Amino acid sequence: MLRQYLRVRDDTLALAASLSAEDQCVQSMPDASPTKWHLAHTTWFFETMLLRPFSPHYQVFNDQYHYLFNSYYESLGSRHPRPQRGLLTRPSADEVIEYRRYVDAAMQELIEHARGDAWPQLKPLLLLGLNHEQQHQELLLTDILHLLSCNPLLPAYRSGSDKDSLSPASISAAHGLTWLSHPGGTVGIGCAGTGDDDDFAFDNETPRHNVLLSPYRLADRLLTCGEYAEFILDGGYRQAGLWLSDGWATVQAQGWKAPAYWMAPDEVVAGIEGWEIFGLDGVRPLDPWAPVTNISFYEAAAYAEWAQARLPNEFEWEAAAGDPRMAQVTGHAWQWTRSSYDPYPGFRSAPGAVGEYNGKFMVGQLVLRGSSFATPPGHTRVTYRNFFPPNARWQFSGLRLARDNI
Ligand code: AVJ
Ligand code: FE
Repeated sequence: MLRQYLRVRDDTLALAASLSAEDQCVQSMPDASPTKWHLAHTTWFFETMLLRPFSPHYQVFNDQYHYLFNSYYESLGSRHPRPQRGLLTRPSADEVIEYRRYVDAAMQELIEHARGDAWPQLKPLLLLGLNHEQQHQELLLTDILHLLSCNPLLPAYRSGSDKDSLSPASISAAHGLTWLSHPGGTVGIGCAGTGDDDDFAFDNETPRHNVLLSPYRLADRLLTCGEYAEFILDGGYRQAGLWLSDGWATVQAQGWKAPAYWMAPDEVVAGIEGWEIFGLDGVRPLDPWAPVTNISFYEAAAYAEWAQARLPNEFEWEAAAGDPRMAQVTGHAWQWTRSSYDPYPGFRSAPGAVGEYNGKFMVGQLVLRGSSFATPPGHTRVTYRNFFPPNARWQFSGLRLARDNI
């Protein structure tokens, strides 16, 4: 567990290593947090959920940090308003690194010397803290991409020279779309519990339960940028009839004409010649075989309508995820589903602050399945439920089409 702890903590620092103190401080929109805030908040989580309750002699690093770095836990008191996280020029980036080192030393002590009878309580919280930090690793990347996209110089987060993937891999041009038939019927969904050994799951994946599915078909791969471009070129963003009402209102209010970070040439001719995309590795030509990312649920649903298909619900996705013929299940782009982020039958939030982690967000959001190229390896599962509001498109969110099989 100590090795795992140190590795996850180091991975976060590595993501911030190429960013200046200026890069790390600014907040580009209320939804996105500064890198420095991510570094501090994940540290605060270990301090609050593990060190305070389980390390009797632990002294907090700075008692003002509890106000600054509590994200949304009502039961832990008042907090700095989310939209103003970018105003925190203090503590400095260096002080936040010092905070991380201080908490890491105390966590090392706790993990190495925890009493055997405390371990059954401590371990699930430690796993939650590590999985929480991994969620913030991806958010750090989506948030820094949004920030850099606001700079007219369009600076790259990192150049593509190192082996870390900074954009979604494209699928072979020969991979035409195949529809995989699924018989439906009663399928088991979710996890039995949050796992007391090393197979961690979030509480929103529980309890395991049965769902009845009608026969359906699922695309064997993700939707590509080339396919999405056809929708744009066919006037998809100008046809109200393809859109959900809230989606159409958003298209008009935001002036959406393409996914976030797509740059069409001034003079659009037929095809995608000259189209570019801004990513973590900077500006590059649009790759028609890369999965489309950075679309909202509204755009995913409008595309599906245009293609005379639909989005899968999250149970259809989960029931088919193990099909060996299905490509790009994880590690490419999150996949919007048609499912509201709701509690599974029998779900109860845990008592205390950790009970606020997922349960209280179960209204008005849609479930995404899979994972993206920016998700830390090993973080996701076929039962994993990511969730965002339907207008969110700064995540690496794409789609896999479904159809009824009738
Ligand atoms: C699962 C990505 C929607 O962004 O709030 C971070 C992850 N939860 N800290 C979010 C999360 C607590 C969560 N998402
Ligand atoms: Fe968090």
